[in-house]
Amino acid sequence: MAESIPDLRNEPKDRAYAELYAHSKAALEGIHDPIAMMSTMSSLIHHSMGHLWTGFYRVVEPGKLLRVGPYQGSLGCLEIRFGQGVCGAAAQRGETVVVPDVEKFPGHITCDSRARSEIVVPIRNSQGDLIAVLDVDSSALNAFNDADRTGLEKIATIFETAGQ
Ligand code: SME
Repeated sequence: MAESIPDLRNEPKDRAYAELYAHSKAALEGIHDPIAMMSTMSSLIHHSMGHLWTGFYRVVEPGKLLRVGPYQGSLGCLEIRFGQGVCGAAAQRGETVVVPDVEKFPGHITCDSRARSEIVVPIRNSQGDLIAVLDVDSSALNAFNDADRTGLEKIATIFETAGQ
């Protein structure tokens, strides 16, 4: 049976994220494999919200290196060092980074020249270890605000409760 993806592009953000959280929980019930979770979440978030690029960079060398994981959108760059670009900054700081205008973020890595703004959220497991970052890019300037931060950080907690 095909699971449908809701169209949340015109919903108020708090409603959209509440729905996305519930949808992700339901779709991932009983699943503890982080790659299966990342794949499902990137598809759900990307298509329901109409983003330019949505996906995960996984921690492959703690404190040093991120490598691309499941994503939706045009080709993402393969590896990002901690401290490099927005993803590397979020990984190094261990906190969400919202960038209203990527041209004003020193060291921003351009994978798709249409990207104008982005948000990157750390992903932790049940032990509190950083396992990945979730990167969401938009072709619009200033697309992300505190509602996105709160909504995506809540969705990120699904990895903490997944038992891995
Ligand atoms: N936006 C990122 C690079 C990855 S891609 O955009 C998919 C950054 O500067 O961290």
